[in-house]
Amino acid sequence: MTHPRHTQVAIVGAGPSGLLLARLLHRAGVDCVVLESRDRAYVEQRQRAGILEQSTVDTLREAGAADRLDREGIPHDGIELRFDGRRHRIDFPSLTGGRRVWVYAQTEVVKDLVALQLEDGPPLHFDAPVHAVEGADTDRPVVRYGHQGEERLLDCDYVIGCDGYHGVVRRAVPAGVMRVHERTYPYSWLGILADAPPVYDELIYAHSERGFALASMRSPHVSRLYLQVPNGEDPAAWPEEKIWDELDLRLGADAGWRLTRGPVTAKSVLPMRSSVTEPMRWGRVLLAGDAAHIVPPTGAKGLNLAASDVTVLAAALAAHYGDGDASLLDSYSDTCLRRVWRAEQFSYFMTSTLHTPTEHSSFDTRLQVAQLERIARSHHAAAELAENYTGVALQPFALQP
Ligand code: APR
Ligand code: PHB
Repeated sequence: MTHPRHTQVAIVGAGPSGLLLARLLHRAGVDCVVLESRDRAYVEQRQRAGILEQSTVDTLREAGAADRLDREGIPHDGIELRFDGRRHRIDFPSLTGGRRVWVYAQTEVVKDLVALQLEDGPPLHFDAPVHAVEGADTDRPVVRYGHQGEERLLDCDYVIGCDGYHGVVRRAVPAGVMRVHERTYPYSWLGILADAPPVYDELIYAHSERGFALASMRSPHVSRLYLQVPNGEDPAAWPEEKIWDELDLRLGADAGWRLTRGPVTAKSVLPMRSSVTEPMRWGRVLLAGDAAHIVPPTGAKGLNLAASDVTVLAAALAAHYGDGDASLLDSYSDTCLRRVWRAEQFSYFMTSTLHTPTEHSSFDTRLQVAQLERIARSHHAAAELAENYTGVALQPFALQP
């Protein structure tokens, strides 16, 4: 694949943000190049999220990247809450005027976008770590990256940091220009992949004094499960039998739920963090996805926020190059941050309501149960959760007429 010296938009990172942005720009006739530090296998195998909001599905369809999603994605109309020995189902369509979510792993979204881009998309270079962004305060920034032992340069009109929380693009912005608002949580998640059928047809979010548990899925034969564990926990401290025993205790066997044990094929500890970088733009440098914001995974918002950022950004860049209209670029950060902060608040609410940190008093735990009780009994409280979980509708990306 060629290594052009020039492009209109340099995209750093081939996660969902970078790949979806490249796909949307390519379809809008905007020239771009994607530079990814890792190899294709690493990028495609990273276990991450699994819930797509309707607006994310719409954007993937608009981008011509949803064929397999439409075949294999599983539509979900609700979730189960488990607390105080009881269960309560949140029904999305009746509470949101018909909205639902889709279960389709982020790994599969990435595989679909990589395949499309390598087939007929803009240049996508793996093993191409960006070392620096130079001239970020000029109208012709230069991206310096390595590839096959050589140092290469790519000059461009815009550099988009889709390089995640630890990325390099944000560091090209002078100190003091951007402000980071952060919170870390006093617990982590043990993420588990198991060759075992899902516990139930829908996702189960379980509050328990032993700690939070989430039963999700990847297919009718593969479960994706999570257990709240202390920060710094070693996955090796969780042999298979202990995992299944703890899930049994926290989820609590119930009519219609079946915890079928099977081989654990992957397990890792995921820290919980909230973080927002403001603004998301500085001149010709713009941030999208995890490079700009992190949410604790409890609300399943990370991938969907990334998709909404790049939907807004692609339309803004298309308007800029198509009509010379820079207004959407100028409002990019404010437009995205409204949605980001709403997702941050919801993710914080779900995380702090469902997790029981060791320092929690019995009073704290009863407060959580009271909040969960309110959701179970109040249409308004349930509708608030359903609206946030299924995501605020977003204008899908519209190709220039
Ligand atoms: N040069 C090139 N690529 C880089 C560099 C660099 N200096 N630094 C990081 N990257 C790459 C990473 O290897 C990764 O593939 O940027 C990509 C960032 O991808 P993600 O971290 O997945 O971020 P994003 O694309 O915004 O997707 C957000 O991923 O972390 C989950 O929960 C999150 O679901 C959400 C989604
Ligand atoms: C997942 O399936 O990985 C998943 C689902 C819902 C969440 C978090 C993770 O809230």
